Amino acid sequence: MNRPFFYDITLRDGNQALKKPWQLSDKKIIFEKLLDLNVQAVEVGFPASSDMDFEACRELSLMAPSNLVVSGLARCVKNDIIRAVEAIKDAKIPRVHLFLTLSPFHMKYVLNKEPQDVRKTAIEAVKFAYDEIKKVNKEGQIQFSVEHFGDCGENLDFVIDTLKEIVKSGATTINLPNTVERTRPKTFVDMIERVRNSLDNHITISVHNHNDLGMATATTVESYFSGAVQLECALNGLGERAGNTNFYEVAVALHNSGVDVPIDLSKIYETALIVSQMSKVPISEKAPLIGPDALAHRSGIHQDGALKTKDMEKGAYRPIHPSLIGRKDDEKIGFTSQSGKTAIFEIISKAGYPITIQEAIRLQPIIKEAAEKVGELPTAQIIDIYFNETFNVKGDFKFIHFCHIDKGTFEYEFRFKDKDYKLKGTGNGPLDACVDALKQLNINVKLLHYEQSALDEEIKGSGATAMSVIHLEDSKGREIIGRARHESTAVANVRAIFNALNIISKEENL
Ligand code: KIV
Ligand code: ZN
Repeated sequence: MNRPFFYDITLRDGNQALKKPWQLSDKKIIFEKLLDLNVQAVEVGFPASSDMDFEACRELSLMAPSNLVVSGLARCVKNDIIRAVEAIKDAKIPRVHLFLTLSPFHMKYVLNKEPQDVRKTAIEAVKFAYDEIKKVNKEGQIQFSVEHFGDCGENLDFVIDTLKEIVKSGATTINLPNTVERTRPKTFVDMIERVRNSLDNHITISVHNHNDLGMATATTVESYFSGAVQLECALNGLGERAGNTNFYEVAVALHNSGVDVPIDLSKIYETALIVSQMSKVPISEKAPLIGPDALAHRSGIHQDGALKTKDMEKGAYRPIHPSLIGRKDDEKIGFTSQSGKTAIFEIISKAGYPITIQEAIRLQPIIKEAAEKVGELPTAQIIDIYFNETFNVKGDFKFIHFCHIDKGTFEYEFRFKDKDYKLKGTGNGPLDACVDALKQLNINVKLLHYEQSALDEEIKGSGATAMSVIHLEDSKGREIIGRARHESTAVANVRAIFNALNIISKEENL
């Protein structure tokens, strides 16, 4: 199977559909991006359409590397052909791209001409263009497009017969556009196959699919497997109406299908952003591969699968690894009412804060309730809840102060259920002694273990330098984690106990 030949039409079909078509300086930027992507051919414009486009085609032809096919569009009229040849003749491989409809509907209602007359015009135009380009550049080529080929189901024999003559007249690439996508891909692909089988093998079959029904990528990919080697695509899917076939989708779909795609896929994402900025056509939230949401997961099940396969080449819920197209952003985990504990764990850890999966489980209903009201929660709001529910837990206890009395004895000042207490306790350090002091209120918790860590700048807040994490076992045997920060490690430890007590008191009446 031949390697696909990527023929880019952003600068012609894409450009002609822009609200403000590009000028030379813009076209140059896009052209460079196409070279970075390593496309095989670029249709640089429609030279007869304006002096500005003529100049742009000329300049880009001069900039083109020697292995790039540079193509200029022309109707089957002499003046267009002369302008196109003049504009692109200095490219190493210039190609005149002629087009004329052969669709019965279009010939009758738009051209108002008999099929035989249209056929004659096409054949003569190809002959003329061939002579003109060969006069000035031996490498010159001719491409002929059957505009509205997708509408030629009923007269396909006539089309094939005409194409044979067109090939005899000098065309080496036959482009078959679905100028308006009206029906199913299979119908179109079957027609491609018939043309492929009717023309000599040295003729390149090309497809050019518009995306009116959203199936242009599918049609293009399947056409390739049916013998169309040249694939006409546009960056960001720019083009008339709903656009042309999306370049990136075709390249990645073929790559994923095991085809050796001659494109530098890693340049896709940066190209897409520039093209969107320059065309002023935003990338839709849901655009495949390049959309902001294309790698976002919001349901708990998808988040779980996505995170379990995060660093693998194949992901549970994504078509590619983001790095394949040069996306630096990871799969995005958004928290909504549909999301789960894994998302909480991931969002908080990714923001740089410590959290355990047990804490994420405890926080889930609280964060979920907030999400039910507003939809997807911003990370800042999740972090706020996290702090309120782990570091500054509001509840029956309010720790005020503690001091060392003597040896293993400490005194703790705190409020419990609106009453102030000063209780002494004894133990192996202030944590042990605190647990001991609480027994006087019939609060029986066991200190399982504790850890301390220095806080990084982000989490420090006002002067805090230490963070304590204590693990208590409550009277029901459950492990509860309390956290606190303070400039003194000892105070952070005791505060962490009171945070844990507030967590316990929320769940059971102490
Ligand atoms: O959509 C179309 O038919 C075209 C032709 C000029 C190739 O753009
Ligand atoms: Zn088109």
